[in-house]
Amino acid sequence: MAAVVLIGAQWGDEGKGKITDYLAEKADMVVRYQGGNNAGHTVVINNQIFKLHLIPSGIFYPDKLCIIGNGLVIDPKVLLDELDYLQSKGIFTGNLRISGNAHVIMPYHRMLDALEEEFKGEQKLGTTKRGIGPAYKDKASRSGIRIMDLLDKNEFSRKLAYNLKEKNLILTKIYGHEELNYSELLQEYLEYAEKIKKYVADTSLIVNQYLEEGKKVLFEGAQGTLLDLDHGTYPYVTSSNPIAGGACVGSGVGPTKINKILGVVKSYTTRVGEGPFPTELTESMGELIRNRGGEFGTTTGRPRRCGWLDTVILKYAVRINGISDIAFTKLDVLTGISPLKICTGYSYRGKMLTEFPMSLSVLAECEAVYEEMPGWQEDLTGITKFEELPTAARNYISRVEELLKVPVSILGVGPGRTKTIIRQKIF
Ligand code: IMP
Repeated sequence: MAAVVLIGAQWGDEGKGKITDYLAEKADMVVRYQGGNNAGHTVVINNQIFKLHLIPSGIFYPDKLCIIGNGLVIDPKVLLDELDYLQSKGIFTGNLRISGNAHVIMPYHRMLDALEEEFKGEQKLGTTKRGIGPAYKDKASRSGIRIMDLLDKNEFSRKLAYNLKEKNLILTKIYGHEELNYSELLQEYLEYAEKIKKYVADTSLIVNQYLEEGKKVLFEGAQGTLLDLDHGTYPYVTSSNPIAGGACVGSGVGPTKINKILGVVKSYTTRVGEGPFPTELTESMGELIRNRGGEFGTTTGRPRRCGWLDTVILKYAVRINGISDIAFTKLDVLTGISPLKICTGYSYRGKMLTEFPMSLSVLAECEAVYEEMPGWQEDLTGITKFEELPTAARNYISRVEELLKVPVSILGVGPGRTKTIIRQKIF
């Protein structure tokens, strides 16, 4: 299989970084296709923790090409800081390529993200305030600035002048904020352009060339299915398409080229930001899972809301993404918890729903219906073969496979690269 898309099957934070890092070793190229530095990937290599927000986790392998596709919104300062950080740790970054069609996050995007959230009050979305939504808004309204515009001084000056004229009016007249200075911004961003330009390339061409040569390409989705702009729990979503279909749009590759869709599923559910969450655990069990699983945002440090595994959501994710294989992460976090609960349906006004509802107001009224399974006490972190897992852990996995009708091909039993059980090769 040459082209694999890896996506989050829940609300993000499924542990995709670790699985990507593991698969990147087998791949020739890793491609990010959407989002920006709202994402946060934690990778543990030789007990060293790396936190990345923008650059694909494949960067840790010097012989792989790492692509930031056209579907992303890039904050140039964050990108350059991340490159400096990696270089200071001795990581080679010369294998990074950035699409000229990706959009640029400007300071007014960050400001507007925060101001719009404040303006929304009770209706706020709980965004990461990194300017993601406002940058995608400009992309859709066709006034956005792309990386290739940034590299062309005349084009950039013209587009910045137009954008600032509009954004300064919004900042001052609507939000009573100070205006931004054109010359300072121009200077600052032209300096970024100078440092970024060596990485900029026609990435769609490069990815397709790799695929034609039969090389292995891993497409790495950020966030998760339920944060998808079209298919997630709108409006509590991000502004891009994290689902598998987004990989084609966000990297310039046709759907016929994709061979496998790997859905990353955490063995329980978490969510950051606002919005309904049927299996949420607000009492001590939620606290226990949060602390055990280290469920605090990589990007914002916010405590994540935690809950039981929800197979209604997962069935939906299998459908929307066409998931062919599952990577089941953080199984070790559940050690010592018994019984374990799996949500298999929702009770809504006396009716049983087994399909994820389209309407958010219906979802908000849904109560999770659970099946209980015995847990296990054994430490899983040293186990390398599925057969060596405690019977209760194997039963838990088998039940998930039965409910979702998709094989669990990879299992995560601890944070490090080696704490991974492979049942079925992905590449
Ligand atoms: P935005 O992407 O900053 O606009 O935030 C929109 C929603 O997506 C908020 O609920 C965020 O908490 C959520 N979100 C964005 N990125 C991530 C992520 O990487 N993991 C989990 N949630 C995220």
